[in-house]
Amino acid sequence: MRAAWAALALCLASPGALRAQEEVPFVVTPDNVTLAMLQLAQVGTQDFVLDLGSGDGRIVILAARRFGARGMGVEIVPELVDRSRRNAAKAGVAERARFVEQDLFKTDLSVATVITMYLLQEVNLQLRPALLALKPGTRIVSHDWDMGDWRPDRSITVDAPDKPVGREKLSRLHLWVVPARAAGTWCGSTANPGARLRLTQAYQVFDATLSVGSSAQLLAGRIDGARLRSVGGFEAAVDGARLRVTQSGDAPAALQGAEFERCAG
Ligand SMILES: C[S@@+](CC[C@H](N)C(=O)[O-])C[C@H]1O[C@@H](n2cnc3c(N)ncnc32)[C@H](O)[C@@H]1O
Repeated sequence: MRAAWAALALCLASPGALRAQEEVPFVVTPDNVTLAMLQLAQVGTQDFVLDLGSGDGRIVILAARRFGARGMGVEIVPELVDRSRRNAAKAGVAERARFVEQDLFKTDLSVATVITMYLLQEVNLQLRPALLALKPGTRIVSHDWDMGDWRPDRSITVDAPDKPVGREKLSRLHLWVVPARAAGTWCGSTANPGARLRLTQAYQVFDATLSVGSSAQLLAGRIDGARLRSVGGFEAAVDGARLRVTQSGDAPAALQGAEFERCAG
């Protein structure tokens, strides 16, 4: 597959485009797939979209033009950066769609509320630790390539008749929402000093033991950005070192509204 991409890049890219040490060749995301990526991330006017390896700028430009978002494309090939700036000016969104010549691995990702990528799985995997460290709730959409055992929150398949690679003319799009880092032990604050929540986490999936006095309860569920939701209806919001129960569900009703802080053990 990689050989095919490399061969294709030789055909598609201008001769100068291959001077840089690219991790991934320039292959465009077709227009309808670009739109589907932004829709999958539910991009809106409040968003800052960062496209890692932005090619001719189409993703950030459409995010600004169609959804009123702001954004930045990071691209290592200077000719593509120039082309993106011209395209943004032509589309009348040069103020909101900026492009920088930069290595995506040296880019501050924390400015983004949405990150888009059309790279390769091995590049996604290299980026994964930095992506997982982003603010909970940051959305990431990848065209075609996944992130190994960090399973997407949602995947869809889109017809892609104009796709320049692959025989099946389909694009697979994956969405991840960065989960809060909730693993560890949480102790009830002054209102519930005896309550303990011991939580283990694998990406967006958690298991927990909630103990209050001598009773203990097992909880399991998913982490959706900054919110924990158990199968039994328990819900909590995580904000850094605090966790607040917003729905007690199967847990004792007295825990409704209870606050927990990180603690040892
Ligand atoms: C498959 S293309 C995707 C272009 C665009 N995002 C799209 O979806 O149409 C990947 C792009 O990443 C760029 N790229 C590769 N390695 C890079 C790096 N280390 N830093 C920044 N850009 C890079 C390539 O030059 C290429 O334009």
